[in-house]
Amino acid sequence: MTEQEIRELVAGQAERQALASAFYRDPDIYERDIDRIFMRSWLYAGHQSEIPEVGDWFLFEFAEESVIIVRSAEDEINALLNVCRHRGSRVCVEQKGCSKLLRCRYHGWSYDLQGRLRAAAHMPDSFDRSSIGLKKIHAEVLDGLIFINFAEEPGDFSSVRDGLADCLRPYRLEDTKVAHRQSYPIAANWKLAVENYCECYHCAPAHPEYSMGHGLAHEDSRTEELYQKVMARAGACGLSDKAVNRMYLAAPAFGADFAFERYPLIRDHVTGSEDGKPLAPLLGDVKDYDGGATDLQVGPVTYALIYCDHVV
Ligand code: FES
Ligand SMILES: [Fe+2]
Repeated sequence: MTEQEIRELVAGQAERQALASAFYRDPDIYERDIDRIFMRSWLYAGHQSEIPEVGDWFLFEFAEESVIIVRSAEDEINALLNVCRHRGSRVCVEQKGCSKLLRCRYHGWSYDLQGRLRAAAHMPDSFDRSSIGLKKIHAEVLDGLIFINFAEEPGDFSSVRDGLADCLRPYRLEDTKVAHRQSYPIAANWKLAVENYCECYHCAPAHPEYSMGHGLAHEDSRTEELYQKVMARAGACGLSDKAVNRMYLAAPAFGADFAFERYPLIRDHVTGSEDGKPLAPLLGDVKDYDGGATDLQVGPVTYALIYCDHVV
């Protein structure tokens, strides 16, 4: 599909109607989505607890890109493109590791944890190592959550940080650890997954277990009173009663979306466990279960569900 055809399709899209099927199926539109949306947005790469020691790294792989997320110093995390500056080979080939130097196995060039070239055998004296290094992309750590952005000049992350500070602080997500990881590959275009996440109209029929405990699965009018109770209890539980929604068209800058929204749990559930009973010690500075759950969103496609004792 040509650029002109795609533009015409966008211009002809009716409001509040499903997108034309080409938006889900056309390979050129998919490439354009990657370039214009994902390569310019803040993306969640992992949690700082996955790289506790200096030299620890893991790979974040997305579209055709591979990024080394490395703890370069006690208080520094870097995101380096996993592309050797010699002949473009992958430098790290395992999913994670720990090393003082990142060594490419092809011809042995080695980089330090900042990505600077440290060793390249048989190069002439005129070869200037200092001018060569793994390409660094932008990385930010928000309460332990590592976000990266491939853009040269990404949307300002400080507005995300400032906008979420009061809401997130009590949970102290920087003190949490990854307890379990589960992937659900979806054989569909990414827009279907996002559209699905953005509505809970399907929750009651499609997720009976979720609907047992979560007010979001039910009409607002049925849970309004409970919502007010959760908000009234927030302060006593050490939580914020603020809600912010700066997603998509309301984002402060492209790709720097954020939202923090609370809603009530129902049937006396206090957390997201199957029976609604506590699962773990309360997070951070949370003093008690307030009967609510929190939807956290950062960037256009990172969603988390924060309960008082764990995060999904
Ligand atoms: S491609 Fe990495 S050292 Fe040659
Ligand atoms: Fe669902």
